Amino acid sequence: MPIVTTTEMFKKAYAGGYAVGAFNVNNMEIVQGITEAAGELKAPVILQVSKGARAYANHNYLVHLVRAAAENYPDIPIALHLDHGDSFELCKDCIDGGFTSVMIDASSKPYEENIALTRRVVEYAHDHGVVVEAELGTLAGVEDEVSVDADKAMYTHPEEVEDFATRTGCDSLAIAIGTSHGAYKFKPGTKPQLRFDVLEECSRRLPGFPIVLHGASSVPQQFVEQINQYGGNMPGAIGIPEEQLRQAATMAVCKINIDSDIRLAMTASIRKYFAEHPDHFDPRQYLKPARQAVKDMVAHKIVDVLGCDGKA
Ligand code: G3H
Ligand code: 13P
Ligand code: ZN
Repeated sequence: MPIVTTTEMFKKAYAGGYAVGAFNVNNMEIVQGITEAAGELKAPVILQVSKGARAYANHNYLVHLVRAAAENYPDIPIALHLDHGDSFELCKDCIDGGFTSVMIDASSKPYEENIALTRRVVEYAHDHGVVVEAELGTLAGVEDEVSVDADKAMYTHPEEVEDFATRTGCDSLAIAIGTSHGAYKFKPGTKPQLRFDVLEECSRRLPGFPIVLHGASSVPQQFVEQINQYGGNMPGAIGIPEEQLRQAATMAVCKINIDSDIRLAMTASIRKYFAEHPDHFDPRQYLKPARQAVKDMVAHKIVDVLGCDGKA
């Protein structure tokens, strides 16, 4: 199956009370690990590429890796999405260059500027058969080298969502309900709690409209412990409890973004591998278990958090 937009995926996810995983891809092993898991579990999947990923791996390489994955797994729908596009030009480049979905993230701009830029991207994207994710509210954490302190983060104002979605024409909306980018989402000792009341109020005002959660890695403690055991230093890395993500997936949330957990899975695996095989130097030897660690982590998310196994 050729790569697809997220339209059908989200319709089915909304109606079925589950969410589709959107996993960030930066190299071949990550694409393979994610799609092997999705393929075996018959799950729809979104592979997303950040501005940083394009700078690292090159647009063309990433598009061709994703197309190769779609050829290898013709039975599952795979979407190729731009994560956190920050300008019209970047979104246009990805629309022209084979992506099926783009995010324009103008959430740091004043409300009217966010609307104007999002509207411009939507018009171009829709003319080219591509769908658009927009964002309202500000998440804490680090994304594309921009860091937002927890006290500067702002929950989405539900009273704005209807006006925003109507005037921009966006196809899905990322909202801020307490998730956060990166591996250090909360201070140790604090109790993470998503604002389900904000999510509920947004979906009440936008019935049937797909909501997106960014910053949704759960930062599994077994990875953090393994990293620290084998020479790493990541004290106090904490993520979103998986039960809360599972609950969000049964509500209006149709897309859940996961990047940090991929990084942690690979890093934990590679650190352990080198500690146990100090004389090895063939990248295939240490990237093979790292790819398997990505696959296992993604399989767990698909079954236990997203609930999208068997939904392809
Ligand atoms: O939300 C940001 C994603 O985790 C992408 O991160 O810009 O380091 O590729 P990156
Ligand atoms: P995490 O840092 O929680 O994995 O979030 C990823 C993300 O939102 C990508 O856009
Ligand atoms: Zn994000």
